[in-house]
Amino acid sequence: MKYFITFEGGEGSGKSTQATLLSRSLSKVKEKNILTREPGGTIFSEKIRRLLVNKNKYDISSDTELLLIYASRHEHLREKVIPSLKKKTVICDRFIHSTLSYQINIKNFRQKINFVHKNFAYNLNPDLTFLLDISPEEGIKRSLRIKKSETRFEEKSKNFHIKVRNTLLTLSKKDKKILKIDASQSKKTVHYSIIDHINSKSFFKKLIPYSV
Ligand code: TMP
Repeated sequence: MKYFITFEGGEGSGKSTQATLLSRSLSKVKEKNILTREPGGTIFSEKIRRLLVNKNKYDISSDTELLLIYASRHEHLREKVIPSLKKKTVICDRFIHSTLSYQINIKNFRQKINFVHKNFAYNLNPDLTFLLDISPEEGIKRSLRIKKSETRFEEKSKNFHIKVRNTLLTLSKKDKKILKIDASQSKKTVHYSIIDHINSKSFFKKLIPYSV
């Protein structure tokens, strides 16, 4: 099995940009990889994504939200991630740590997430996670500048986003596989930190170059 690398962070933290740059760096030295995202990643899961992230008039329960995330995740893993991991590094924009930090309003959320993850997500955990940390004020401003319709989560309260950030920070303190990076730094500085970390841990048998 190859590596499963995830990017996590609040809204507008630059995850997608950094995931793309990492993918480019790996491709430069012919390290096979695919870039994907959650919710989404396959045609069917992207349809579920629209239900979850697009602003809409439906007031769904937090449990429904969790089940939709796991329906999308199950398809994504079954169809794309698990088969790809046999031969390629998989870089995924958001995964389990997003669920553990965004779906916190569910009663007994830890128990429920553990159950669905074990039974519907192959109990797959990332080998390495980059947490791009940014203040919700700065991040949401950045995000709304780019996004027009996918704003259902952005429009949640400031308090909610502060909780998401704090939960991610707590998770990163407990888990050595999560590297926290200050995402208010320039794109280049963040990218250099990511590549330097990968090289310092000799993740790949070759030196990975920068892409910017
Ligand atoms: P993004 O494309 O900006 O990362 O947006 C995806 C949104 O989906 C983001 O607001 C966080 C949310 N999300 C969850 O709430 N739980 C999850 O498990 C995942 C993967 C995403």
